[in-house]
Amino acid sequence: MLGLVSDYKKVILEIGFGNGENTAFLATKNPDALIVASEVYKSGIGSLLASIDKNSFRHIKIFDDDIRELLLNLSEPLFHEIYIICPDPWPKARHHKRRLVNKVFLENLHTVMYPGGTIYISTDWENYAEFIEEETPKLKDEFMAKKISNDGMPITRFQARAMREGREIYTYLLTTLKK
Ligand SMILES: C[S@@+](CC[C@H](N)C(=O)[O-])C[C@H]1O[C@@H](n2cnc3c(N)ncnc32)[C@H](O)[C@@H]1O
Repeated sequence: MLGLVSDYKKVILEIGFGNGENTAFLATKNPDALIVASEVYKSGIGSLLASIDKNSFRHIKIFDDDIRELLLNLSEPLFHEIYIICPDPWPKARHHKRRLVNKVFLENLHTVMYPGGTIYISTDWENYAEFIEEETPKLKDEFMAKKISNDGMPITRFQARAMREGREIYTYLLTTLKK
C-alpha cells in the first residue's frame, strides 16, 4: 500500500517517463519520497511495472492518463520536484502549440509546486530549447530558470537516440519562487 502523501518526505513527479529509466533512478535515489510517474504509452508503463517488480519498489504510483487531467484538478502545492525529459518535440512550426511545456502549462506547474521546488526539463531538440528560453522569461515572478548540465542523470532511451543522431541535450532547472 502507498499510504498517505504525508507519510513521505517529499513528492516527485515525472511526466512522460517513456520506459521509466529515469523513474527507476529517482526511486532508488529517493527511498523516502513518493514518486508519481506519468505516461500514456502502454508499452512504457509495462517496462516501468517490470522495473518496479524487479527492484521491489513500493513508493511509485503510476498515473496512466494525460498528466494535465491530474494537474488541472489540483489547486494546492503537492510536488517538491518535477522531471520532464524529452517532451514530444512537435518539430513542425504549425504543431508548436501542441508542445507540453509552454507558459500556460508552466503556470499550472507553479500552482502545484512548493516554493523552492524544482522542475527539471531536458530536451533533445534545439528548437524546443529555444522555445523554453522564450517562454520562461514570461514567468520570471514564478520561477528562476537556468540552463544546467545533465551530468549525473541517467541517459533515457530518447536521449540515447538523440546522441546517436548527433543532437545536443539542452537541460533547464526552474526553481519555484514564493507565490
Ligand atoms: C519523446 S518521449 C520521451 C520519453 C522518456 N522521457 C525518454 O526520455 O525516453 C515523450 C513521452 O511523453 C509522453 N507524454 C506526452 N504527453 C503526455 C501527457 N500529456 N501526459 C503524460 N505523458 C505524456 C508520451 O507518451 C511519450 O512517451
